[in-house]
Amino acid sequence: MRQTVRFYLGDDLCTLRDISPTLTLLDWLRDRGRTGTKEGCNEGDCGACTVLVVRLEDGRLNWRAVNACIQFVSMLDGAQVYTIEDLGTADAPHPVQTAMVEQHGSQCGFCTPGFVMSMAAYRKSEGASADEQAIDDALAGNLCRCTGYAPIVRAMKQAMA
Ligand code: FES
Ligand code: FES
Repeated sequence: MRQTVRFYLGDDLCTLRDISPTLTLLDWLRDRGRTGTKEGCNEGDCGACTVLVVRLEDGRLNWRAVNACIQFVSMLDGAQVYTIEDLGTADAPHPVQTAMVEQHGSQCGFCTPGFVMSMAAYRKSEGASADEQAIDDALAGNLCRCTGYAPIVRAMKQAMA
């Protein structure tokens, strides 16, 4: 059955009518040119496609890092979605992006947008700290083949300072 879904992409209200219930957020974003959200495994294992999904829950905004490859657009009604394109610019980077640059947290860069979105979600989470184990747990869903993770963890610590 096809349906209508309304949600925000960044600050833009999107009303999608007659969409397939199996359309993934990753395919929809990339079809719209939001190619900063990467396709890696396409099955929820690598984190390359991570975006931020914000919902009002119990009177509070809840920020979640979500794998767009396993998020159906049809489930986003009432949510706000942020991709890496919404986060910062070259002139005004997000604190997480600044920290990733200063700590050399990116090499080939394929995993970087996903890490940055998970890091941004962690900064917004209740009780977030610079504790290394907590950071490891928060970033466990993101894989990197290049950096060995230590520079990324340092970047997360810097962004929490
Ligand atoms: Fe790997 Fe989505 S592409 S988790
Ligand atoms: Fe290459 Fe992470 S920087 S996969």
